[in-house]
Amino acid sequence: MEKRPGRSLIGPEEIAAKVAEMARRITEDYRGRDLVVVGILKGAFVFLADLVRRVDLPLEVDFVAVSSYGKDTESSGVVRIVKDLDLDIRGRDVLLVEDIVDTGLTLKYIAEMLRQREPASLEICALLNKPEARKVDIEIRYCGFDVPPVFVVGYGLDYAERYRQLPYVGVLEDGC
Ligand code: IMP
Ligand code: MG
Repeated sequence: MEKRPGRSLIGPEEIAAKVAEMARRITEDYRGRDLVVVGILKGAFVFLADLVRRVDLPLEVDFVAVSSYGKDTESSGVVRIVKDLDLDIRGRDVLLVEDIVDTGLTLKYIAEMLRQREPASLEICALLNKPEARKVDIEIRYCGFDVPPVFVVGYGLDYAERYRQLPYVGVLEDGC
């Protein structure tokens, strides 16, 4: 059976309000600092684009691309760096932006890799969080929404590379 986005879990207005609130906090916290916003591709591209347009500070944007093996809905925990940062982050204030924290394995791997480059600070910002699926400890400084342990798509999140463009976050369901 083909899987399709079913019911909407978080609508566009609710997302926009949350993103604005997160951006306000980031603006307050990073005033006078040296902010580099690092998006984790591909899933974070929509969230990051909306977020940085609401942050009222000078900042730079960079991306890392990772791929976890396999096309299915389970996180394998094996992460491969497909694209590294272009910027040197040593001594700078890095805000790592992720679409969703599930087991936490991907973020833990990337955060540890970036910490070795000795940024002045490194914090995590995630739109979605699945606390029940967590396998490793991760401190999410800016967290949008907790979601139940179901597979979600839209607003950057994919299922087998599809549905990233949906303006809402929906639950993936069996179609007919
Ligand atoms: P983690 O390593 O288990 O925390 O998962 C990391 C990555 O798996 C996320 O960045 C997403 O790209 C993907 N992922 C986890 N849960 C979902 C989901 O419900 N929908 C779409 N992608 C997901
Ligand atoms: Mg991702």
